[in-house]
Amino acid sequence: MDNFIFDNATKIYFGKDQIKALPSLLQIFGKNVLLVYGGGSIKRSGLYDSIHSLLHDFNVVECANVEPNPHHTTVQRGADLCKEHDVDVILAVGGGSVIDAAKVMGAGAHYDGHIWDLVMDASKIKEVVPLVTVLTLSGTGSEMNRGSVITNTDLNIKKGTGGQNSLPYASIIDPTYMMTLPAIQTAAGAIDAFSHALENYFKADNDTFMQDAISEAVMKAMIKYAPIALKEPHNYNARANLAWASTLALNGLTGVGKPGPWAVHAIEHELSAYHDVTHGLGLGILIPVWLGFILEEELMPIFVRYGVNVWGIDPKQDDSSIAYQAIDKTIEFFKSLNAPLTLGEVNIDSTHFEAMAKSAVKLGRLTQHLFPLDENDVMMILNQCL
Ligand code: NZQ
Ligand code: ZN
Repeated sequence: MDNFIFDNATKIYFGKDQIKALPSLLQIFGKNVLLVYGGGSIKRSGLYDSIHSLLHDFNVVECANVEPNPHHTTVQRGADLCKEHDVDVILAVGGGSVIDAAKVMGAGAHYDGHIWDLVMDASKIKEVVPLVTVLTLSGTGSEMNRGSVITNTDLNIKKGTGGQNSLPYASIIDPTYMMTLPAIQTAAGAIDAFSHALENYFKADNDTFMQDAISEAVMKAMIKYAPIALKEPHNYNARANLAWASTLALNGLTGVGKPGPWAVHAIEHELSAYHDVTHGLGLGILIPVWLGFILEEELMPIFVRYGVNVWGIDPKQDDSSIAYQAIDKTIEFFKSLNAPLTLGEVNIDSTHFEAMAKSAVKLGRLTQHLFPLDENDVMMILNQCL
């Protein structure tokens, strides 16, 4: 296990009615609040009204219409609003897109140039406006990490960023807010969290028993509870387990002490950069093909652990049989969530594959992966996904 510093101070308010804590959390920072939200789901669910009734003592400015795969122009709009209204604290209410955008808005409020600079060079993120979040879609883990992924549709670049101060101060995770999710978003969120655990699992093989056991538990939580949530969208315990597992998947616990970049996310970001595909669905298409591509002797111990510990495959079988069964079970799982399994199903053809492969290798540092990928490898993976 490599050395690491684990530093995550986000306060989590988990469970029903935790929203009541909102005024006391916000007033720590002041009265001027920027409320950031998406395309209207919080209005339809009634959450918008509940929040406004709790915030009657605050000056609330709104930044609405943050799009899935948030655009740099929207983030700039939010940063400008912060400056214009002397915002003390940002309240992000939504899924990963809203929370990601809000983090960079808060950094942009303390930056003189364009916010895209902060995406291309995370070291430029210094001071930020404090952030409180209310999560409505579990999956990304953004509610308890420093990351943001922002898309520049002019340049076809989707890229991650984040500074030392980018952690939310507090996040409210009330599983009842996830009961209004469309089935496909529930599936996408579950695949996303599964992927975070899986990518950390396959990132290095350096005796990180604890991190890997947490990853296994995250994946098993998705396998157990995502089908229940799809069948019974109002099942509180299913929503609660999905939400908490998703938060733990990407708050540092599963990745610390394991060096190296992620491969599948880097390739998925290219899909979203060109085609605005739902993040979790893009991952679900790529994961099985990537697993098949990297299935070689060197990584066999990880495949066997994955097969036995996550999928309950009989360890007495030979290693490669366990590995192939594990990949098949992964495909079956995504299929059972009604997730697409090919790029064709999300209307993506091979037009931009070359540019995507080039950018994935560069931005994703894929040659430094435990199983290094070059541009040709990425092209092969993308072509196999068609
Ligand atoms: O915009 P509204 O109307 O709110 O609708 C959203 C959106 O259309 C809807 N939704 C959210 N909560 C809902 C709901 N609909 C009904 N009921 C609810 N309770 O769901 C749609 C998708 O929302 P979005 O926020 O885009 O989804 P998600 O949470 O999956 O976020 C995806 C973004 O996060 C980035 C992805 O790349 C993508 O841009 N990621 C961020 C990470 C991070 N910060 O650590 C890591 C991830 O790997 C990921 O890359
Ligand atoms: Zn993800």
